[in-house]
This record gives sequence, structure tokens and C-alpha cells, in this order.
Amino acid sequence: MARCVRGLEPAVSTEILQSGSASITSLAHREVVYRTPAADAPYPRTADDVFLLAERRGDIGPYKSDLAALAELAHAVDLDALERERRARGGPRGFAGIDISASYLGRRTYNRYDIEDAIGPVLAQRLGVPYHARRNGTAPPPDYSGWRLTLDGTHTTLLLRLGTRPAHRRSYKRATVPGTLHPPLAAAMALLADLQPGQRIMDPCCGAGTLLIEAHHVVPGTTLLGFDLDPEARRAAEANAAGTAPLRIERADAGGLPVADGSVDRVLCNPPWEGQVAAGGRLAARPERWWRELARVLTGQGRAVVLVPDARGLTHALAHGLEPTHVRQVSLSGRRPLMVRLERTRSPGPRRTAHRGKGG
Ligand SMILES: C[S@@+](CC[C@H](N)C(=O)[O-])C[C@H]1O[C@@H](n2cnc3c(N)ncnc32)[C@H](O)[C@@H]1O
Repeated sequence: MARCVRGLEPAVSTEILQSGSASITSLAHREVVYRTPAADAPYPRTADDVFLLAERRGDIGPYKSDLAALAELAHAVDLDALERERRARGGPRGFAGIDISASYLGRRTYNRYDIEDAIGPVLAQRLGVPYHARRNGTAPPPDYSGWRLTLDGTHTTLLLRLGTRPAHRRSYKRATVPGTLHPPLAAAMALLADLQPGQRIMDPCCGAGTLLIEAHHVVPGTTLLGFDLDPEARRAAEANAAGTAPLRIERADAGGLPVADGSVDRVLCNPPWEGQVAAGGRLAARPERWWRELARVLTGQGRAVVLVPDARGLTHALAHGLEPTHVRQVSLSGRRPLMVRLERTRSPGPRRTAHRGKGG
């Protein structure tokens, strides 16, 4: 099962199907269940994490007394078979300890820690290893196996993480900056952009470089160009790209880019609108300049995929001849931004934006 950000379920399914050997069993809120005979099948980059399905049955119910059913479920799991399967698929050997993280939908008379403490110790006792309780807020030892238990109103689902750490935690991301993008969402944006080898891809507000690095993993062999005003961000992008992706990072203002007209095939960006980072430079007073530059630098067949807080800024995109051809709302850290693909409908003319309000 691949777990993902809400709104990315179709992106995860598409990526799984495009891998060639897998079939989708079911698709629901933040999860895609799939089968693949290929033991070395790569994890979908758009997924937050990938698990083996250990056990699935009906939802246990909303009352504290219902938690007893979880001990029975823990006893039903074929732990040997599960461990063999995980190893065959490149996962770690054995179980050093149990770390379990629970979530549920709907009203319950128990909380997530009650769920975790109802099942974790039973698994630990069966395996003869320690159980790490998340109730006390401390991080589990890194070699403990990661389990998940979800209650969605229909199913009780017990999952075992395939890898040693969550798939969304990329090894390249050594440096970070405020407002940095969740890598699976960056991968979904790169996939939506229909990248091709040989293309020139740009992020005019690149932060720690997540979008460009994910773009490189989705389609290698492109030219990757990142700009940012903040020296910390540029340093982070360079550190993350080192040994991972051939990024060219430079200082520039996204409101006036040092790039020729019609010279960029793809733009990937989450601009600094209403997030943790304020727009600086020319964008501070005139955020609509961001859209004008976007339209100016794209080639005739160019495309952009952007993450914006709402649909307001798209007025500027339309005014500059860029039409939204795909819009998807996602949920992330309590926000509901839009992932939007823009394509050119006409050449950028001298026409100014009709709307002169804040451009975010
Ligand atoms: C939301 S963050 C981008 C995060 C990035 N996608 C990542 O994954 O780390 C927005 C970035 O825009 C930059 N920025 C703000 N104003 C800018 C401007 N006028 N020109 C270029 N970059 C700017 C900030 O320094 C910040 O790094």
C-alpha cells in the first residue's frame, strides 16, 4: 500500500501503473493498494510511504472496549511470512523493535495512543523485541520496524513499512529552508509537467531545490536552472543537489529573470505566496510580475506546473496567455493549495494584467 498526501491518490496510481508490472487493487482516502510481482519495483516517488499489507478486516468500532479486537488482530498476522516478503523486496532483516503509528477517521472514545498501545505490545511480545510507545513523544530508535494502523470507518488496516525509513524522507535533502516543499508533492508536480530529456527546466524561486531535484529523478537528462534571492536557500539547493542532480543555481529576482524570452521549456515552482516565506525583491510590491516573467520565458510549447494557495493568481496567468489545463487541490500541513498546470494559449503580448490586486 502506498500512503500519500490527500489529493495525490490519482498521481500515485498513475505512477504505479506507468511502472508497467503493477495493478491497482483499490484506491481510497490517502491510500493506493497495489500488487506488483517485481521484487525490485521502485517506490512511487509521489507516495509518502510504502507498506506491506499485514492484515485488513472490518473497523473495530468506536468504543474503548472495541480496542481488545486489536490484540486478536496482532495474533492473526503471519509475522514470518511478512518478514520474508519484506526482505525479498529489499527491506531490512528481522525486527529490532516495534514502532507503531495509528490514525483514525470519525468520532471515537479512544485516541491514537490507546490504539497504538493496544496492538504494539502484542506484536512486540510475539517477536520477543521491545515496544516503543509514541505516547511519551520521544522518537523511536532508528532500527525499529515502522508499523501503521488505520481505522477509516470501514476497515482496520495493519501495515508494515517496506523500508527502514519513510519514503518521503529523501536522502538528498540534507539542507532545508522555511517553506520547503514536501518531496512527493514536488515529484507529482514534475510528473504533471510531462518532462522530456533535453528540455530546459527552471524554478525561479527554487528554495532548497526540491522541485528541480525531483524533476531530475523523474526524467534525467534535462538542463536544470534554479534562482533564488536568499543566499541560505541557494546554499541549501547546492548542498542538496551535490552528488544527486546537475543543478545550476544563481542569484536572481523572479520579478526580472536573467533569461531570454521564450527559452525555457518547463517551469516548476511554488512561489512565495502566503506561505512561511514572504515575497522579496521586485515581487514584494508587484507580485504580478512573477506571472509576467513566467509567460515571457516559456517557449511556445512551454508548460508550467505551479503550487498556489488559491485560484486568485490565475487571473494573471490568463491575462498573460497561460491557460490552466489541470487543477488539483491537495492537503498539506493544514493548507489546501492548488497544483496547477498552465499551457500557453497565445504569445505574451504587451498587454498588462487586467487585475491589479495582490498577485498571490
Ligand atoms: C516557498 S519557497 C520555495 C521552496 C522550494 N520549492 C523548496 O522546495 O525548498 C519560496 C522561495 O522564494 C524565494 N523568493 C522570495 N522572493 C523572491 C524573488 N523576488 N525572487 C526569487 N526568489 C524569491 C524565497 O527565498 C524562497 O526560497
